[in-house]
Amino acid sequence: MSTPAASRTDRPRILTGDTPTGRLHLGHWVGSVENRVNLQEKYDCYFLLANMHAFTTRADSPADIRQDTIEIVKDWLAAGIDPEKSTVVLQTEVPAIAELTWFFAMLIPFNRVMRNPTLKTEIDSKGLGDHYSFGFPMYAVGQCADILAFRPELVPVGEDQVAHIEMCREVARRFNVLYCGVDSKVEDEEFVKEGGVFPIPAALVGKTGRLIGTDGVQKMSKSLGNAIFLSDSPKQVKKKLGQIYTGRQSLDEPGDISNALFEYVRIFIKDQGRVKELEERYSKGDNIGDGHIKVEVAEAINELLEPMRERRAELEGPDGDEKVIEIIRTGTARANEVAEETLAMAKESMKLDFFARELKAK
Ligand code: TRP
Repeated sequence: MSTPAASRTDRPRILTGDTPTGRLHLGHWVGSVENRVNLQEKYDCYFLLANMHAFTTRADSPADIRQDTIEIVKDWLAAGIDPEKSTVVLQTEVPAIAELTWFFAMLIPFNRVMRNPTLKTEIDSKGLGDHYSFGFPMYAVGQCADILAFRPELVPVGEDQVAHIEMCREVARRFNVLYCGVDSKVEDEEFVKEGGVFPIPAALVGKTGRLIGTDGVQKMSKSLGNAIFLSDSPKQVKKKLGQIYTGRQSLDEPGDISNALFEYVRIFIKDQGRVKELEERYSKGDNIGDGHIKVEVAEAINELLEPMRERRAELEGPDGDEKVIEIIRTGTARANEVAEETLAMAKESMKLDFFARELKAK
């Protein structure tokens, strides 16, 4: 039985999302997805497929974007996101997001967008130089609309997204001040009480905002080839962990427990006593090698991933795709109810409520 919409709406809302660029990895899990799974119980959750954003750098690959969109939902479901509790939203079928993007684009200086550190890092790391599309920096404004269309309290994200959430908070304050007559000096928590349309949403970063990749140097990322995917097989996990390089020479040499391998030990081995023990023996050089530790970490990760593999297996093949598309369809219909309500509120405060919208597209 699905939860009736009415009982969901009493709960505070959450919005977050992913750009479909490929499968989810452990960095996504510890940074944000784990939080999302846990928050489903208490919040009315909206999980957005930011497929429009995928076009900002891959406009030439619509078929890949389509498949990546479906795959990411499979990863979400495998990870434990439950469509009976949470709402899966397809960005390109929520027109209110695109409309709000336009309005918000007028509330933020162009140079402020271009100074956004997450955008700058992306331009560097993707080698976009100065030939990125107009739409590329626009996505950061679009992200403000993704979020604010749902008037959420919380946005669970990895650390790299915090700069975007900060911009979103600025836009929300500015809108409330300009169009809803809220005093610019009120506390963030007071904006709605004072008549603002938009709450000032807070970023919620997971227990590890930035997970190091299996190269032991850079952030885990698909494009850097240093990622362990949620859908990897036990063998792949073992092999990838084996590649972590620590530079340690012998079992008797005192090891540095701030290395990448020990980051994984602390994150993935649940038994805290065992973590302490490994840390002590490794730092003393008490006859314990990287190889041994890697095996233990691989086991811990595989234990985490096993239920995900099982759930994912149920979604393989064309039937799986159908199921996923149905979940997206139902979720997006529900999301549009909220987003249209927000847009109507925003337009009213912008004196754009000439008449109630009645669109009958055929
Ligand atoms: N930019 C995010 C990422 O690349 C995805 C995203 C799009 C998002 N819209 C969002 C995240 C709104 C949180 C809220 O991962």
